[in-house]
Amino acid sequence: MNRREFAKQTCIGCLNGGLLSAILAGCQSTHYVSGIIESKGLSIPKSEFTYFKKEKPFARQFIIVNHGKLEFPIYLYRISDNEYSALWMKCTHQGSELQAAGDHLYCSSHGSEFDKKGNVNQGPAETNLRSFPVSVNDDEIIIDLT
Ligand code: FES
Repeated sequence: MNRREFAKQTCIGCLNGGLLSAILAGCQSTHYVSGIIESKGLSIPKSEFTYFKKEKPFARQFIIVNHGKLEFPIYLYRISDNEYSALWMKCTHQGSELQAAGDHLYCSSHGSEFDKKGNVNQGPAETNLRSFPVSVNDDEIIIDLT
Protein backbone atom coordinates (compact mmCIF):
# COMPACT_ATOMS: atom_id res chain seq x y z
CA MET A 1 0.00 0.00 0.00
CA ASN A 2 1.42 3.39 -0.92
CA ARG A 3 1.04 6.60 1.06
CA ARG A 4 -1.93 7.85 -0.98
CA GLU A 5 -3.86 4.59 -0.51
CA PHE A 6 -3.08 4.63 3.22
CA ALA A 7 -4.36 8.22 3.54
CA LYS A 8 -7.59 7.30 1.72
CA GLN A 9 -8.24 4.25 3.88
CA THR A 10 -7.52 6.00 7.16
CA CYS A 11 -9.32 9.22 6.19
CA ILE A 12 -6.18 11.24 6.86
CA GLY A 13 -6.63 12.47 3.33
CA CYS A 14 -10.05 13.94 4.13
CA LEU A 15 -8.76 16.27 6.85
CA ASN A 16 -8.91 19.84 5.62
CA GLY A 17 -7.54 22.89 7.47
CA GLY A 18 -10.65 23.62 9.55
CA LEU A 19 -11.24 20.07 10.66
CA LEU A 20 -7.58 19.52 11.39
CA SER A 21 -7.33 22.65 13.54
CA ALA A 22 -10.50 21.62 15.44
CA ILE A 23 -8.96 18.25 16.16
CA LEU A 24 -5.67 19.81 17.23
CA ALA A 25 -7.50 22.27 19.48
CA GLY A 26 -9.13 19.30 21.17
CA CYS A 27 -5.69 17.81 21.76
CA GLN A 28 -4.47 20.61 24.00
CA SER A 29 -3.62 19.34 27.46
CA THR A 30 -6.13 19.63 30.27
CA HIS A 31 -5.56 22.60 32.56
CA TYR A 32 -6.07 22.05 36.32
CA VAL A 33 -6.57 24.79 38.90
CA SER A 34 -7.39 24.71 42.60
CA GLY A 35 -9.09 28.09 43.05
CA ILE A 36 -9.69 29.82 46.37
CA ILE A 37 -12.66 29.15 48.62
CA GLU A 38 -14.08 32.45 49.85
CA SER A 39 -17.33 33.41 51.56
CA LYS A 40 -18.95 34.09 48.17
CA GLY A 41 -17.86 30.72 46.71
CA LEU A 42 -14.96 29.11 44.91
CA SER A 43 -13.08 31.83 43.06
CA ILE A 44 -11.16 31.15 39.84
CA PRO A 45 -9.22 33.88 38.00
CA LYS A 46 -10.62 34.38 34.50
CA SER A 47 -7.03 34.41 33.27
CA GLU A 48 -6.89 30.62 33.83
CA PHE A 49 -8.84 30.27 30.59
CA THR A 50 -6.15 32.01 28.57
CA TYR A 51 -3.07 30.34 27.17
CA PHE A 52 -0.42 31.62 24.82
CA LYS A 53 0.99 30.07 21.72
CA LYS A 54 3.77 31.97 19.93
CA GLU A 55 2.76 34.95 22.11
CA LYS A 56 -0.80 34.92 20.76
CA PRO A 57 -3.60 34.51 23.34
CA PHE A 58 -6.12 31.69 22.97
CA ALA A 59 -9.12 30.76 25.11
CA ARG A 60 -9.36 27.34 26.70
CA GLN A 61 -12.69 25.57 26.24
CA PHE A 62 -12.72 24.20 29.78
CA ILE A 63 -10.62 23.79 32.90
CA ILE A 64 -10.80 21.34 35.78
CA VAL A 65 -11.12 22.81 39.27
CA ASN A 66 -9.54 20.39 41.70
CA HIS A 67 -9.59 21.95 45.17
CA GLY A 68 -8.35 19.78 48.05
CA LYS A 69 -11.54 20.35 50.06
CA LEU A 70 -13.79 19.01 47.32
CA GLU A 71 -14.60 15.31 47.09
CA PHE A 72 -14.77 15.51 43.27
CA PRO A 73 -13.39 17.99 40.77
CA ILE A 74 -15.56 20.53 38.99
CA TYR A 75 -15.63 20.82 35.20
CA LEU A 76 -15.77 24.52 34.36
CA TYR A 77 -16.81 25.09 30.76
CA ARG A 78 -16.54 28.45 29.01
CA ILE A 79 -19.69 29.17 26.99
CA SER A 80 -18.65 32.80 26.43
CA ASP A 81 -16.51 35.35 28.26
CA ASN A 82 -19.38 35.99 30.67
CA GLU A 83 -21.08 32.62 30.75
CA TYR A 84 -19.75 29.38 32.20
CA SER A 85 -21.16 26.06 33.34
CA ALA A 86 -19.79 24.30 36.43
CA LEU A 87 -20.45 20.57 36.78
CA TRP A 88 -19.72 18.13 39.58
CA MET A 89 -17.58 15.39 38.03
CA LYS A 90 -19.36 12.58 39.86
CA CYS A 91 -21.21 10.12 37.66
CA THR A 92 -24.90 9.91 38.55
CA HIS A 93 -24.95 6.19 37.78
CA GLN A 94 -22.73 4.73 40.53
CA GLY A 95 -20.56 7.65 41.58
CA SER A 96 -17.34 7.20 39.62
CA GLU A 97 -15.23 10.23 38.79
CA LEU A 98 -15.83 11.47 35.25
CA GLN A 99 -13.27 12.33 32.61
CA ALA A 100 -13.43 15.50 30.54
CA ALA A 101 -13.18 15.21 26.77
CA GLY A 102 -13.54 18.65 25.22
CA ASP A 103 -17.19 19.66 25.36
CA HIS A 104 -18.46 16.54 27.09
CA LEU A 105 -17.75 14.24 30.03
CA TYR A 106 -17.63 10.47 30.07
CA CYS A 107 -17.47 7.75 32.65
CA SER A 108 -14.99 4.96 32.07
CA SER A 109 -16.80 2.65 34.52
CA HIS A 110 -19.87 1.82 32.41
CA GLY A 111 -19.82 4.29 29.54
CA SER A 112 -22.21 7.10 30.51
CA GLU A 113 -21.74 10.42 28.73
CA PHE A 114 -22.87 13.94 29.63
CA ASP A 115 -22.86 17.15 27.61
CA LYS A 116 -21.24 20.46 28.62
CA LYS A 117 -24.38 21.44 30.54
CA GLY A 118 -24.54 18.15 32.44
CA ASN A 119 -27.36 16.51 30.49
CA VAL A 120 -27.18 12.75 30.01
CA ASN A 121 -26.17 11.95 26.42
CA GLN A 122 -25.80 8.24 26.96
CA GLY A 123 -26.65 5.86 29.81
CA PRO A 124 -26.69 3.82 31.89
CA ALA A 125 -26.85 7.05 33.93
CA GLU A 126 -30.41 8.46 33.91
CA THR A 127 -29.92 11.64 35.93
CA ASN A 128 -28.17 14.82 34.80
CA LEU A 129 -25.05 15.98 36.60
CA ARG A 130 -25.17 18.32 39.55
CA SER A 131 -24.44 21.83 38.37
CA PHE A 132 -23.47 24.91 40.36
CA PRO A 133 -24.56 28.51 39.85
CA VAL A 134 -21.74 30.61 38.39
CA SER A 135 -21.28 34.36 38.54
CA VAL A 136 -18.67 36.36 36.66
CA ASN A 137 -17.06 39.73 37.16
CA ASP A 138 -14.19 41.46 35.34
CA ASP A 139 -11.45 39.26 36.78
CA GLU A 140 -12.93 36.16 38.32
CA ILE A 141 -15.42 33.35 38.00
CA ILE A 142 -17.21 32.44 41.21
CA ILE A 143 -18.75 29.01 41.67
CA ASP A 144 -21.48 28.92 44.31
CA LEU A 145 -20.93 25.65 46.20
CA THR A 146 -24.02 25.90 48.43
S1 FES B 1 -20.55 4.77 37.42
FE1 FES B 1 -20.55 5.98 35.63
S2 FES B 1 -21.57 4.82 34.15
FE2 FES B 1 -21.61 3.58 35.93
